[in-house]
Amino acid sequence: MHKILILPGDGIGPEVVAQAVRVSEALRARHGLECELEHGLIGGAAIDAHGVPLPSASLGQAQRADAILMGAVGGPKWDAVERELRPERGLLKIRAALGLYANLRPAPCFDALVDASSLKPDLLRGLDLLIVRELTSGIYYGQPRGIVEETLNGARVRVGINTERYAEPEIERIVRTAFDLARLRRKQLCSVDKANVLESSQLWREVAGRVAKEYPDVALSHLYVDNAAMQLVRAPRQFDVVVTGNLFGDILSDIAAQLTGSIGMLPSASLNAQGKGLYEPVHGSAPDIAGQGIANPLAAILSLAMLLRYSLRRGDLADRVETAVKQALAAGLRTADIARPGERVVSTSQMGNAVAERL
Ligand code: IPM
Ligand code: MG
Repeated sequence: MHKILILPGDGIGPEVVAQAVRVSEALRARHGLECELEHGLIGGAAIDAHGVPLPSASLGQAQRADAILMGAVGGPKWDAVERELRPERGLLKIRAALGLYANLRPAPCFDALVDASSLKPDLLRGLDLLIVRELTSGIYYGQPRGIVEETLNGARVRVGINTERYAEPEIERIVRTAFDLARLRRKQLCSVDKANVLESSQLWREVAGRVAKEYPDVALSHLYVDNAAMQLVRAPRQFDVVVTGNLFGDILSDIAAQLTGSIGMLPSASLNAQGKGLYEPVHGSAPDIAGQGIANPLAAILSLAMLLRYSLRRGDLADRVETAVKQALAAGLRTADIARPGERVVSTSQMGNAVAERL
């Protein structure tokens, strides 16, 4: 019996996760999925209940689970909370505590949505890109960090400090993960860095080149991050798998999301060395539309599909979910974020229902 921890979080998180749960129930009833769901708190919801964004009870639940399905964290309600206790810190903490170093962010352009992007459809038809982002190191975690006082030109001034830092084994394992994934796809890996300026990137590039020798069947290329950002919007189909560090991956994955027409469609997986994973939509908590029942639940549902594939090793069920999503889109179902002017719009639960009933 697989144990899945559900962490709905804040904003639209609970609404979209509820639809993924509904899909998991359909899989249990109709396709023999054996799993036990437990619910826990993270982010602002946890701050409200326990004063911290990741209570030790939640972390304990996460450690005991085989996989975690999360909604989203954060919102204006907690903007005034001190830095250490912000909802986002809960997410950063759970990533680090579980060693979830490999963040997989696929960005396929669904045929039915090729017109939904701000880019020309001709550039996007057939796009199928995977960003592999390092998630537990780099500038997000490097020490020293903080806001300190220093003397500058004789005056006391405040200085904000963060440190970009990558150890060779950290680079090696994420690059290896990316090569393994590229091997299962079109066998092209692009490593993105800023090696013309940063030493951490010079080491990154060198290590990627060394690991490449073990994967002669995969073609490795390198791009500087500024050029990569431009290439992503100029000719996105040139990419198969992109591997990069934490901050560059954060930025490039939002660009990739926009290419596909809606960030409301995109799932992600964050995996550790044991295959345990935290699965979450790439979109945030969208407080402006929370509670209205209009959010797109497909990213959460597709995150469940990734959970089935990578942590539960049920690729067969993942395929079923992904097919049901494509069928619902092909049947013309659209939430507001992916509807064109004049198209009929369905609610969060109508979309969830449409997927569940196609399973
Ligand atoms: C993401 C988000 C997070 C990040 C925030 C919420 C901490 O932007 O998952 O991309 O920067 O990693
Ligand atoms: Mg981000």
